[in-house]
Amino acid sequence: MAIRRVWCLKVLLCVAVCFSFLQLWNSRSQLLERWFRFFDFAPSGGKGINFPSLFSEELTEPECRTELLLLILVASKPDHQDSRKAIRRTWASPTERTVDNWQVVFLVGRTLDVELDWRIHNEQKASYDILMGDYLDSYRNLTLKVMHGMKWAADRCRPRYILKTDDDCFVNTHYLPSFLRDRGPGSSGHLYVGSAVPEKKRVVIRDPLSERYVSYREYEPNLYPPYANGIGYIVSFHAAKSILRAARTVPPIPVEDAYLGILAERAGIGLLASPRFAQRNLKWSVCNYRFLMVIRGLSPEDQALALENLRRTRTSCNHSAEVAHWR
Ligand SMILES: *[C@@H]1O[C@H](CO)[C@@H](O)[C@H](O)[C@H]1NC(C)=O
Ligand SMILES: *[C@@H]1O[C@H](CO)[C@@H](O)[C@H](O)[C@H]1NC(C)=O
Repeated sequence: MAIRRVWCLKVLLCVAVCFSFLQLWNSRSQLLERWFRFFDFAPSGGKGINFPSLFSEELTEPECRTELLLLILVASKPDHQDSRKAIRRTWASPTERTVDNWQVVFLVGRTLDVELDWRIHNEQKASYDILMGDYLDSYRNLTLKVMHGMKWAADRCRPRYILKTDDDCFVNTHYLPSFLRDRGPGSSGHLYVGSAVPEKKRVVIRDPLSERYVSYREYEPNLYPPYANGIGYIVSFHAAKSILRAARTVPPIPVEDAYLGILAERAGIGLLASPRFAQRNLKWSVCNYRFLMVIRGLSPEDQALALENLRRTRTSCNHSAEVAHWR
């Protein structure tokens, strides 16, 4: 009898331990957050981005074209050579160039893989369109990548507009440059346009296990100001200058697009929301390609299909008038 009771107790104990372990496991992110918050409440000292530290002599810089209307900065991973190749062959190709002056530069960070590094050097010798910065290439360093690219663009190229996008995106290089030339705010105006992130998704992620985790120390409010999704946004030269000035005092957070929104707000630049920057949708018709400026979610193979659709708009969309505004 006594032995059976001891066994019963043992089993009960086991179940209880397992249950509490499960509970702990389920609430691990809240627990971690509380923990992080406890050690992390001190506001950081207002240190912004140290721009000189991002510049590297490792790789020859690309040459800027003169009198540039639009510089397209494509955030790319070092090992995404297929994506860069597909972009060079499609929407960035000189054969797609209209009279307008635009240029594509890929933003890449340092890699510890010696063989890959060697391949990137060779790639640069063939195309001279890669800007390498002095930061380790990682998701959490994306903010440094974009800030380096923007600083380089504003100092060395001085284009009238900068478009930041990613290497899985398609850019409408047939229509975008002339659209900007004819309908931009003019050389002295501020423009910050892109796909606005809805308010629900602007909540700061405090889960330390998330890629987009931001601590209270890095950013205290619980909601980001309005910002454009990182798939693609355009800033005018003057907006870029003001944004870069703000970045010298606003501490960076690892969420690149939200950081840009914080800087824009600090610089007093409002976001212009536009549906012309969108996730790829297979239901689109050919004529949608005349309206869209940046499309996200393309594999290297998809780039050729998208370009084919864009080319077809020239002959099959005469009936629909071109939309002359961002919205
Ligand atoms: C970002 O880059 C810096 C400079 O190279 C490096 O020290 C740091 O570890 C990188 N951070 C991440 C999260 O990769
Ligand atoms: C549309 O316009 C282009 C150039 O103006 C012309 O070459 C083409 O034949 C037209 N297509 C149709 C279907 O009207």
